[in-house]
Amino acid sequence: EAEEEESESSMESEPEEALGTEWVEAGAGTMASAASSTGGRGESPAPSSQPSPARTPAAPPAAAPALARPPSKPAVFIPVNRSPEMQAERLKLPILSEEQVIMEAVAEHPIVIVCGETGSGKTTQVPQFLYEAGYSSDNSIIGVTEPRRVAAVAMSQRVAKEMNLSQRVVSYQIRYEGNVTEETRIKFMTDGVLLKEIQKDFLLLKYKVVILDEAHERSVYTDILIGLLSRIVTLRAKRHLPLKLLIMSATLRVEDFTQNPRLFATPPPVIKVESRQFPVTVHFNKRTPLEDYSGECFRKVCKIHRMLPAEKEDQKDSVEEVRKFKKSRARVKKAQAAVFKPPPEGTRLCVVATNVAETSLTIPGIKYVVDCGKVKKRHYDRVTGVSSFRVTWVSQASADQRAGRAGRTEPGHCYRLYSSAVFGDFEQFPPPEITRRPVEDLILQMKALNIEKVINFPFPTPPSVESLIAAEELLIALGALQAPRKAERVKQLQTSRLSCPITELGKTMATFPVAPRYAKMLALSRQHGCLSYAITIVAAMTVRELFEELDRPAASEEELAKLKGRRARVAQVKRIWAGQGASLKLGDLMVLLGAVGACEFAGCSPQFCEANGLRYKAMMEVRRLRGQLTTAVNAVCPEAGLFVDPKMQPPSESQVTYLRQIVTAGLGDHLARRVQSEDLLDDKWRNAYKTPLLDDPVFIHPSSVLFRELPEFVVYQEIVETTKMYMKGISTVEAQWVPVLLPSYCQFDKPLEEPPPAYCPEKGRVLCHRASVFYRVGWPLPVVQVD
Ligand code: CDP
Ligand code: MG
Repeated sequence: EAEEEESESSMESEPEEALGTEWVEAGAGTMASAASSTGGRGESPAPSSQPSPARTPAAPPAAAPALARPPSKPAVFIPVNRSPEMQAERLKLPILSEEQVIMEAVAEHPIVIVCGETGSGKTTQVPQFLYEAGYSSDNSIIGVTEPRRVAAVAMSQRVAKEMNLSQRVVSYQIRYEGNVTEETRIKFMTDGVLLKEIQKDFLLLKYKVVILDEAHERSVYTDILIGLLSRIVTLRAKRHLPLKLLIMSATLRVEDFTQNPRLFATPPPVIKVESRQFPVTVHFNKRTPLEDYSGECFRKVCKIHRMLPAEKEDQKDSVEEVRKFKKSRARVKKAQAAVFKPPPEGTRLCVVATNVAETSLTIPGIKYVVDCGKVKKRHYDRVTGVSSFRVTWVSQASADQRAGRAGRTEPGHCYRLYSSAVFGDFEQFPPPEITRRPVEDLILQMKALNIEKVINFPFPTPPSVESLIAAEELLIALGALQAPRKAERVKQLQTSRLSCPITELGKTMATFPVAPRYAKMLALSRQHGCLSYAITIVAAMTVRELFEELDRPAASEEELAKLKGRRARVAQVKRIWAGQGASLKLGDLMVLLGAVGACEFAGCSPQFCEANGLRYKAMMEVRRLRGQLTTAVNAVCPEAGLFVDPKMQPPSESQVTYLRQIVTAGLGDHLARRVQSEDLLDDKWRNAYKTPLLDDPVFIHPSSVLFRELPEFVVYQEIVETTKMYMKGISTVEAQWVPVLLPSYCQFDKPLEEPPPAYCPEKGRVLCHRASVFYRVGWPLPVVQVD
């Protein structure tokens, strides 16, 4: 089961003016020029402007480098008052013996890479080393980024506890919340939060050190931060305000960072932390089970459990537990905290884990690992954005990480449910995220940083040219980027020199922490009292999967009957929330609005969610995101004076129509048109829809309230490929809106000099209730007459 924790962008949004003078002064010019020199920055990294600290071997840990002006300032050592137990526990960590080496490297080099196995102490200890060495003196902050929210929160708590400091000093900031104060000296945050901060203060002046943690995960935002920080470090050195950058990775595979002259002209030093690893004997299967890998896992676990020694005896209960685990995912969640505790006397702990346990999490005392060799990942088509969950083989690196988990406390065994020949065919490493998903959100953020020629940006691993083009095309269509003249664009595409500057609308969109399509909706919805509804729809679409998954296979007749009952119940509440007539035309997005409205009206209780098939956790997230988006909208448009009204009244009929237009403008490239009966090519096109990008038929997902309605034009939130290509999150579009709202997706039988007057992407004014249309729509199948 894939556990995808979405990474995120930051919470506060401020008007563009808040980009700050630093950006204009140092950022704008320098970044643009830095990014435009194809060969990377035209200079070697500025030598560290401060002298190496004088080191006295007796003074633990490291002496502090004189960082701030005046340079003659004496080195500071900030004492930390740890409890003796804590100190004893720290001393066991492998990274403690590397403290001197790390701190010396940091003093001498602007950029340092630290590699060490999961559990060696990187995340919890390195910030403490830096703190003690005075890198947070003069009210500056040690910043640490994490790709996952949970890690940012948990690590700030852990470090505060280890250092005997309050969370006012060791704090965190994630998308929705944080506890950062004036006193904060160590700040854990998600990588998206730091990216937003760069938009406000390009030089990141409040930090003396930035640590990018878990760089091996190659999350999109961490990758971008590496590229940006490589420039920021140089700019800061020029100003004699040096910034230190530490990149921390759980694997040794850092060539994408070190052997990348576009990124770092001189490869930064790599410090390897040796960890205690006991030998792990790897057992391959003779043949590879093709189908039932989870059943195979289960049998193997039972066999190990019966045949192989545990410290304690009495094993019956746990086999039963495993059987239950196999059946029910819910139990696994509940057990999360328990895996860190020693199992009860006389039992054996069996952990069923996703790839989270590969590197992000160390569970103590694991001796046997059973590896099915599979990973379930959301897979995107780079150009069309169609996504599907696919179970694929892991990489060799991941398989080795999994095996390594067995040797943390004593020699162990790893049972691989595949043959060594199959292993030999695995990819060496998992591909970085940036090569695996659409990048329009990223490109918009980068354009907002005035990086126009995105293609020249020093990505550790660049996204493909097709996905860059697809992203720019979408942003142009949304009005977020200035559309070049046709001839100019053709030239750009031929030479891969994409360089469209951002528009005012684009800048506004970039301040909203949601995907560009949704940001467009927000930017448009300042009229007719639609804002709070648009915010709710966007929040619900961003959180996704508000409804419980009821399509799962049932383990017994009894469970099947229960599932069927729940499905019927959910279908019924969806119909109620979708309503009739005008309201039903907003389709699944009306259902989202109804679900949030009804749930909030009921006080968002877990009981309400349970009874109506809603996921409580998702509903709480929608609530937080609504709050955050409301703040963001108020920042751009203070006169809106919005507040989150939990008891939201249903929208009026005309508001629903405006909302549909707003949704159409945002999801425009996700337009689909039903194949007319006279155009039916063959049976596979029955009830099918056609979209501009895909040759294959797409269908309305059976869970949609419009499944039986089959409107002529729809926009969809996403296409997910299972047995067929299914559109999810559907809303209907009136045919006469298409040429007005989405002229770029139409073919006109006479040339369209400029967009119809009612639509102006720059100003974002689309809300004409009845557009008078004089054009014929020629898309996507044969021409229809629209009056
Ligand atoms: O970052 P890295 O994986 O190298 O290690 P870490 O997260 O700093 O963890 C170092 C040690 O602290 C591990 O052995 C964890 O078991 C322990 N730890 C803990 O006991 N409680 C936490 N909340 C976090 C870490
Ligand atoms: Mg870590």
